[in-house]
Amino acid sequence: MSDSARLQLGDKTYDLPIVVGSEDEHAIDISKLRAESGYITLDEGYSNTGACQSAITYIDGEKGILRYRGIPIETLAEHSSFVEVAYLLIWGCLPTKEQLDTFSELMTKHSFLREQIRHHFEVFPPGSPPMAVLSAALNSLACFYPELLDTEDVDVFEEAAARIISKVRTIAAYSYKHDMGHYLVYPHPEKNFCENFFHMMFSEPYKDAEPNPVLVRALDVLLLLHADHEQNCSTSTVRMVGSSGANLFASVSAGVSALWGPLHGGANVAVVDMLETIQAQGISVKDYVQQVKDKKAGIRLMGFGHRVYKNFDPRARIIKTQAENVLAQMDIKDPLLGLAEELEGVALEDDYFIERKLYPNVDFYSGVILRALGVPTRMFTVMFAIGRMPGWIAQWYEDRFITHGKIQRPRQVYTGPTEMCYVPLEER
Ligand code: CMC
Repeated sequence: MSDSARLQLGDKTYDLPIVVGSEDEHAIDISKLRAESGYITLDEGYSNTGACQSAITYIDGEKGILRYRGIPIETLAEHSSFVEVAYLLIWGCLPTKEQLDTFSELMTKHSFLREQIRHHFEVFPPGSPPMAVLSAALNSLACFYPELLDTEDVDVFEEAAARIISKVRTIAAYSYKHDMGHYLVYPHPEKNFCENFFHMMFSEPYKDAEPNPVLVRALDVLLLLHADHEQNCSTSTVRMVGSSGANLFASVSAGVSALWGPLHGGANVAVVDMLETIQAQGISVKDYVQQVKDKKAGIRLMGFGHRVYKNFDPRARIIKTQAENVLAQMDIKDPLLGLAEELEGVALEDDYFIERKLYPNVDFYSGVILRALGVPTRMFTVMFAIGRMPGWIAQWYEDRFITHGKIQRPRQVYTGPTEMCYVPLEER
């Protein structure tokens, strides 16, 4: 394979270097193209554009491979925990027992919210979208920890990271309790990361929630599976905001906003809405799939398809098995699981989905587990955000302090009017 690509523009040729990644991925480096030729490239939606070089997460969409720092997701789902994966993503290696304990203690220490932030929830009307509350609350942390805004010092960065990963869970639970009009429950220093989530969500002043360990482990795996996914929409947003020099709180707050959309993290809510609609309308799965294919109703099969995975999403396989196990072990009958399996069966046999390489993605079955955990549907995307936080932080840190990325500033091909005269108001 040549180490450069040749581009012919008119009678001029340009040699563009080839960059090769550690998994033999090849990219054409066009960073000097505009300066040398006056041309830019156009790639709407960035399907063919590498925005950075990154050593955090590897995906092979054709083979259904996902690895964090080289370790396959299947291995991590079986043997690791969310907190250990958070350390792995941020620091690049698995922690020793001592490092893991220190990191966990740091998160426990910083799981509380300042009392002023507790009052912050009171300004939101009941029924406020939990992703709006989460994004606002995360951004507001910058007001309380000015000493963490300059994160060049590694210890300062570690404290900021631990605070965010820990507090995002507290914020999520508080926003739920506030919305329900319930008493807010403080984190418990002796409970682990996931136990504390259940505690803050479901304990009452007179009764502590005691979640079944099956559910605690299911939550741990679910969060771990969401922890990073290379340069997706929200992660690219976090890197882009951070590339301007914006602080970590502002950057992850922007990530939450990007994740909210139904084509991204919001798909887990959309999947359950879709299954409930099918159930409520009593239409057959085949008829629903036909409506999707007709494209007249403007609906997509939510939880299907992925920009990168064109064979299968390895996270979807793990989540499906987890969902089946959780329901079986807890003896929960959820008709939505049966409906989801039927829908998957019909779609996977259908030429429309086969030709377009559309397979179930991580969001297709995650709602089934979240329902079993007792998490209300409107909070599903918040759960995705709790899981994705370590990935956003690792990617932000890599861009800022390891690869020292430039400010991200794409160009455009302008299609508006050419120079026009200004017409004074009275003459219009
Ligand atoms: N149902 C029906 N048709 C679909 C779907 C779907 N879920 N996804 C893609 N298509 C069709 C699309 O209409 C187009 O058809 P045609 O060639 O006839 O115009 C073709 O497949 C290619 O679609 P695209 O929109 O160009 O593909 P994309 O790579 O831009 O979109 C996607 C990827 C995930 C946004 C899209 O598959 C989708 O909208 N899926 C449903 C939403 C969803 O589940 N999102 C969660 C993604 S995984 C979690 C995460 O990382 O956020």
